[in-house]
Amino acid sequence: MTEPLVLGLESSCDETGVGIVRGRTLLANEVASSVDLHVRFGGVVPEVASRAHLSALVPALERAAATADVDLADLDAVAVTAGPGLMGALVVGIASAKALSAYLNKPLYGVNHLVGHVAVDLLDHGPLPMPSLALLVSGGHTSLLHVEDIATNITEVGSTIDDAAGEAYDKVARILGLPYPGGPVIDKAATDGDPTAIRFPRGLTARHDMEKHRFDFSFSGLKTAVARWVEQRRLDGLDVPVNDVAASFQEAVCDVLTAKTVDAAQHLGVNSILIGGGVAANSRLRALLEERATAVGIELRRPRPALCTDNGAMIAAVASEAIASGVGPSGVGFSANSGLP
Ligand code: KG4
Ligand code: ZN
Repeated sequence: MTEPLVLGLESSCDETGVGIVRGRTLLANEVASSVDLHVRFGGVVPEVASRAHLSALVPALERAAATADVDLADLDAVAVTAGPGLMGALVVGIASAKALSAYLNKPLYGVNHLVGHVAVDLLDHGPLPMPSLALLVSGGHTSLLHVEDIATNITEVGSTIDDAAGEAYDKVARILGLPYPGGPVIDKAATDGDPTAIRFPRGLTARHDMEKHRFDFSFSGLKTAVARWVEQRRLDGLDVPVNDVAASFQEAVCDVLTAKTVDAAQHLGVNSILIGGGVAANSRLRALLEERATAVGIELRRPRPALCTDNGAMIAAVASEAIASGVGPSGVGFSANSGLP
């Protein structure tokens, strides 16, 4: 059988993504972001995101088909994010995918967004060694996943007990007066800062925490520590060294993420680590994890940054793997599930 030609639609947050893959080959990945519309609110406004998906989806679909040079009638399947995400935003993608699937008479796959972040590396580096440990770090999630089979067997072995890593970046950016989304801005600001300037706390790394919450993360204490430090500085009438705060905050986040991930991989006896989600685009996280994983002989998989943030190709990749493993389509009966685990 020739490899399946799969269309993937992603609309769980503020990115309208349309991707096309053939088997494990990426043919097109169009992403239209409504981030500019959310900047003045300091975060994603669900209703604004939903409306933006409505107007961006068809043009993105047309661009993707043109880039991939495919006729939609030749598709083997249509895939769409079923959840988790913003309800109204998900509904736009799902309704569109159902309409396309019915019109083109193609099977429909409802895909878990988080599995998409894990599967996308296939498109860059081929099949993931099994088992692997995936560190999923985005605006909504921070999880460690023990992956034994992408299509059928993923177990969560750790997660954040409060803020997601991306959420911490976004909140700290706000404290520093930097725009939303904070991740890329702090990443950039940190390149001109000293990561050792301020020693911010590393959450849940004390021995008793490690015993209780072996692979869990906490970032809200770090965010509060940054807020207090900045506030004190302002009360003292001193300038806030934005680059040093950004670099020191980033160092604390990446130190915890990488130390726990390597620790969990060793504990589980897993020789391969994968990173995914928007924060996986972070330059310091990528470098520090590479350093620490390599030091203990663990292979690190890092999708290119453009595939770490939300996109449609990652959704198509999951459906393509499902087809290859003989997993049947979802049918048109499924609904958006904003809290999909
Ligand atoms: O996966 P994603 O695109 O959307 C969600 O599913 O949440 O992740 C978005 C998050 C935002 O919090 C953003 O600030 C963060 O990823 N992010 C980054 C970087 N690029 C995006 N965080 C740190 N460094 C980056 N370079
Ligand atoms: Zn995401």
